Amino acid sequence: MGVAPNSLRRHGELNALPDLRDFQFTFEFQNAIEPDISMRVVDDDESLSDSVLDYPEEFGRTYHAYHAGSYVYPNDLTEQERLALQGPIIKKLFDDRLYFAPLSRSNPPQFILDIATGVGDWAVEMGDLFPSSRIVGTDLSPIQPSMVPPNVEFYVEDSSEPWNYTDKFGYIHTRLTAGCWGSFETEIAQQAFDALEPGGWFEAQETEAVFGCDDGTLDPNGPMCTWFHEMRMASEKLNRPAILGSNLKEIFERVGFVDVEQLVFRMPLNAWPRDERLKDLGWMWGQNFSQGLNGFSIQLLNRAYGRSQHEIELSLVRVREELLNPHVHAYMPIFVVFGRKPFDGEIVE
Ligand SMILES: C[S@@+](CC[C@H](N)C(=O)[O-])C[C@H]1O[C@@H](n2cnc3c(N)ncnc32)[C@H](O)[C@@H]1O
Repeated sequence: MGVAPNSLRRHGELNALPDLRDFQFTFEFQNAIEPDISMRVVDDDESLSDSVLDYPEEFGRTYHAYHAGSYVYPNDLTEQERLALQGPIIKKLFDDRLYFAPLSRSNPPQFILDIATGVGDWAVEMGDLFPSSRIVGTDLSPIQPSMVPPNVEFYVEDSSEPWNYTDKFGYIHTRLTAGCWGSFETEIAQQAFDALEPGGWFEAQETEAVFGCDDGTLDPNGPMCTWFHEMRMASEKLNRPAILGSNLKEIFERVGFVDVEQLVFRMPLNAWPRDERLKDLGWMWGQNFSQGLNGFSIQLLNRAYGRSQHEIELSLVRVREELLNPHVHAYMPIFVVFGRKPFDGEIVE
């Protein structure tokens, strides 16, 4: 039983809103939905100064205010919505996993750090998964929700700067941060190594600014490949290299992590795969990527090549067309690399 038809009629006048208390809901619980009082509501003004919220505007988008100019993708609602969908798509690709490092469920890391947390969805889910752990998420933009589990905290921070944490972490995580750093190795991997307790794990889940295709349906000189080539060149020019995933394993090993493992996933770029799960993933990723194209490109290509907004937007029309064409069997590689900080005195080969 869904709704009582009488209630619908009674409230049927134009613009009149139905009183939802009149409906018999089909929930297994008859009573009202109870709020989760364990969720902490953080007052937005609690710790944020105006300067952090004073987002610069350009090309009809807003960008981070703290250390403005460091990161070329926007932080407005359009981008926040895209990020909020991107995390669940990645999780689906990972068969519903948030992490691959061998964390103990019965004795989980006490202190977990998510670098460049974005809208904080990963940190919040980890908070639910490990209620006895404390999860800290940091980002240049304060775009995280204000209602969070009690064990989750967010801070505005520039993670390319020296980290000053007093406690050591048991697990540190990054996801989709290519293009954020001048050097992932020195700014992130080395600092993560130093900030971990012995035996703690560092995991990076990162993509690569290349498209793959195994059957020749993606034109290497077509709009998509040309766009990605230009994005890579522009990122290099602005000292924010976009090639990251394929370098991770070597970086982890150089920095001193042991038991380093690498997994590589293929994320299809539209609904071309026959397999239903991959078809769904491809459809969602294609839509998400297409929605992000403007934000990925506009400031980067303007800064690097002096192109106008109009010129950039025009070039994206053809990229979008090719991206969503199911005859083009393209995918993006997603690299997951994790490694352990050795224990004191451990002999490392
Ligand atoms: C593509 S988003 C990914 C967010 C999140 N990790 C996820 O998987 O949804 C990259 C994030 O990195 C943040 N970021 C960029 N440079 C940063 C820096 N130097 N320090 C901290 N955060 C940074 C951006 O503000 C943005 O939220």
